[in-house]
Formats: sequence, structure tokens, C-alpha cells
Amino acid sequence: MTQLRVPGPTPCPPEVLEAMAWQMVNHRGPEFHQLLADVTADLKKVFQTQNDVLLLTGSGTGGLEAAVANMLSPGDKVLSVTIGAFGDRFASIARTFGADVVSLKVEWGKAADPGAVRKALDDNPGIKAVLVTHNETSTGVTNDLAAISKVVKDAGKLLIVDAISSLGSINLPADAWNCDVVITASQKGWMVPPGMAMVSVSPEAWQAHASATMPRFYWDFTRAKKIFEEKKENPWTPAISIVYAFSVALKMMLKEGIENVFARHARVGKMTREGIIKLGLPLFADPAHASNTVTAVSIPEGLDGKKLRQVLREEYKVILAGGQQTLDGRIFRIGHLGLIDEKDVEEILSAIEKVLPLAGFKK
Ligand SMILES: Cc1ncc(COP(=O)(O)O)c(C=O)c1O
Repeated sequence: MTQLRVPGPTPCPPEVLEAMAWQMVNHRGPEFHQLLADVTADLKKVFQTQNDVLLLTGSGTGGLEAAVANMLSPGDKVLSVTIGAFGDRFASIARTFGADVVSLKVEWGKAADPGAVRKALDDNPGIKAVLVTHNETSTGVTNDLAAISKVVKDAGKLLIVDAISSLGSINLPADAWNCDVVITASQKGWMVPPGMAMVSVSPEAWQAHASATMPRFYWDFTRAKKIFEEKKENPWTPAISIVYAFSVALKMMLKEGIENVFARHARVGKMTREGIIKLGLPLFADPAHASNTVTAVSIPEGLDGKKLRQVLREEYKVILAGGQQTLDGRIFRIGHLGLIDEKDVEEILSAIEKVLPLAGFKK
């Protein structure tokens, strides 16, 4: 079997793929109403929230853009806490829509220091919202969101979290951690194909939304909330097949138990990191904040990272990701989220071990 181990899209269970082939229904009819209500209720269990959860048709970046456009007004000052390429993208969206972005940039491979976030808020009065990435997929680092949230909420700011590659795989209790807006996307740990973003919105976020004036139409949260509450529908034609897929995948996740899902990700994350070290390869991320959904491996002198991934793909059907932006050629990444267990990790590590010498690596 192909081991698709990029950090999303991830492999889907056969039952989920079968759901993708179900016949279409009327998205304004009773079957879909029931389906959307059930999927939304199950999503709330994984978000661990009583807040509204909206399903938006689009990829994760669409969800990030929706969060910016719905929460902010042009000229609003926001703090971007960025630890990698996706944090930078979030800041760039806010800037594009006219926000006045103050960036707290952390060296790639490291997590944000909550104390530095506090200082940035103290140094920059007038900040309305903080944008932060829970799990930085480009570097394999998970931020201490509970601690960052405490700082942000103590300062009375809105907390907007990119949890695209963590939610559903790494514990993120949206309510217990006072997250105002949390964004994730179907193709990550959810075991569902790409196509939908899911966003939770707290009462405080709704208040901010009421006075936010950035332009929005397709992503308008008011429209999404109103039609869901009144009719259990989306404002626009949704990706119906993705909602089918969710209806099956979420039942699988809840049957396993979300605590068990998180524990399994912790086990495979640890096993991957330990296995990589045993092979003699250096890890890129700060071990204290290593991600349980994606491992970034530094490419040492002598190892041809592109050849490694090419032979893994062609001869072993193991598909890994390269580095992004400045990390291109410097790291490769192993996605271990969603449909994965220890046996898969063994298979991936064993294939890497076999290919390393062919790609020039000498231990
Ligand atoms: C942390 C993070 N943010 C944002 C994105 C962008 O999501 P998408 O590619 O679904 O637009 C990704 C996707 O890899 C991600 O991992």
C-alpha cells in the first residue's frame, strides 16, 4: 500500500472513500439538513467546544482568510506570532486585508515563548487580536497554546488560532483554552479529502465580528450562522461529498475516543522521532516542542534529500514532503497524522533506513 506521509492530504479509510461515492442529495433538502446537523454536532465534540462551529467550503487558507475578514477592520492592529511559513501566511492575509500587523517572529524550529508574547502585547498598545499557529507544519513545532492563550486572554485580546494541522490529532480544548476563533481543514488529521475548512467562533468573537468591517461575502460568518440555525444549511452549495466523508470519519474518531486519538498521535510522533535519531539523522525542531503530527528531519552533509524522497517514492511507495521556502533542501518532513499507527511508522522508518545509503548518507 502507498504510504502517503506528507502532512496533508492524508490517507482516508476505505469507509470514508466509499462515502465520497454516495449519490448527491439536495443541499436544501431534509437528508442534508440532518447530515449537516450531525456532522456539526460531532465536530463540536472534537473541538471540545460549545461555541458555534461553521463548515466552510474551501481549504485551510480559506478558513484563515475567513477568520481575518470576519474579525477585523482595516487599520486594526494585530499581533502575528509566527514560527514558520504558515504563521507568515496568516500575517500576510491580515496585511492584505488592511490590518496593521505587528510581527513577533520566532526562529524557525523553535516555539513561541509566552513571555515574549506578553512583552509584545505590552510594547504595542492597541492590539485587537493575536494570530497564532498551534502546530507549525513547515517546521514540525507545536506551540504551547494553553500558555499563549493565558497571556492573550489576560491582556483581553481576541485569540485567533490556526489549528489546521493539529485539531483532531493533538489536544486543543477550544473552550478550556479560551480560543475565540479556531480554524482547521478536512485533509489533515480528520482522514477526509481536501475541500472544507471548519471554524469555531466564541461569543467574544461574534462581538468583534459585529463591528468588523473588512469586506466579506462568500466567507461571511453571519450568513453561515443564520442559515445553519434556521435551516441546517450552508449559504452556498457545499462540498456535499466532503460532508459525507466527515459523517463517517468523525464516527470513527469518536468510536476510538478523542483521548485515544491524541494518545496514538503522541505515540507515533515519539516513535518517529526516536526512529529518526536511531538512523543517525538530526531532528530540525526543538525537542521540547516537537509536533506529534509532523516531524521535520534536517538533511546532513552528504545526504541528497531529493534523491532520498525520489527513491522512497518510486521504489517503496513512501511519499514524504520536502522543506518549504528557506527550508527547501535543508529538511524533509514526515506527516504522521490521521490514519496511522505504529506499524505504518515501522514501515516508513525501515524504508528510509534502506534508502539512506543510496542517497549518499554515511552514518
Ligand atoms: C498550519 C497550516 N496552516 C495553513 C495551511 C494551509 O492550508 P490549505 O493548504 O488547506 O489551504 C496548512 C496546510 O498545510 C497548515 O498546515
